[in-house]
Amino acid sequence: MSFAKKIRLGVNIDHVATLRNARGGFAPDPLRAAQMALAAGADGITAHLREDRRHIVDEDMRRLKASINAPLNFEMAATEQMLDIALKIRPHASCLVPEKRTERTTEGGLDVVNGRERLAPFVDELLRAGIRVSLFIEPSFEALAAARALKAPVVELHTGAWCNALALGETDKAEAEFERLRAAAEEAERLGIECHAGHGLDFDTARLISAFPQIVELNIGHFLIGEAVFVGLDSAVKEMIAAVAQGRAGAAGA
Ligand code: PXP
Repeated sequence: MSFAKKIRLGVNIDHVATLRNARGGFAPDPLRAAQMALAAGADGITAHLREDRRHIVDEDMRRLKASINAPLNFEMAATEQMLDIALKIRPHASCLVPEKRTERTTEGGLDVVNGRERLAPFVDELLRAGIRVSLFIEPSFEALAAARALKAPVVELHTGAWCNALALGETDKAEAEFERLRAAAEEAERLGIECHAGHGLDFDTARLISAFPQIVELNIGHFLIGEAVFVGLDSAVKEMIAAVAQGRAGAAGA
């Protein structure tokens, strides 16, 4: 028995800010992208305030929180500076992610197994402030057990290894990664942890992963913003919602 039928789509608007920052100035505006994504049917907005502010900047987070009428998911590294900002902005949710300045994107999950003691005060403070905490983790039982020990109510499974394997045509690896995600989603439910997924998803992979009934939220950014260049953000988001609904309907045998 799974705890939800509906699957929410969080649209990550970081790369609208990447484009803006390539020239400086104010356009394109990530807040406008957030409003368009929501108007197209997205359930929430995700933004990652990175330590080096390479895309989203502090003022974007403030404007998003002040102006959007939907859940805001603040992706952040577990640092004192980010914690202070989150406690001021009070987003609906914070997703703790690992962060290295040198990486192009968030390449792996949080090391919750070895980092438990370091992460605990961040999880506790955010929860005490009424912010829903999720931990961005590899789809492994060890990471899930550590997330449970940290009393995190939500995990987001890192789908990057699966998506990369598929993109590279590494069929065996892709199948193994898909099964790892399936097992992790089932284990999360068994542990009573709400399960989300994200990273590297496109229409096809979003459709496939939506078949796991335990997953109740997907956070998708780079592909959607890229697709928006060709078809517009409204169309891209609507097509993604349709793909996700199709994957979910298949899972329910509809
Ligand atoms: N979820 C988390 C925790 C992330 O760090 C990212 C990337 O910022 C995403 C989802 C979205 O990944 P993508 O941009 O590849 O769709």
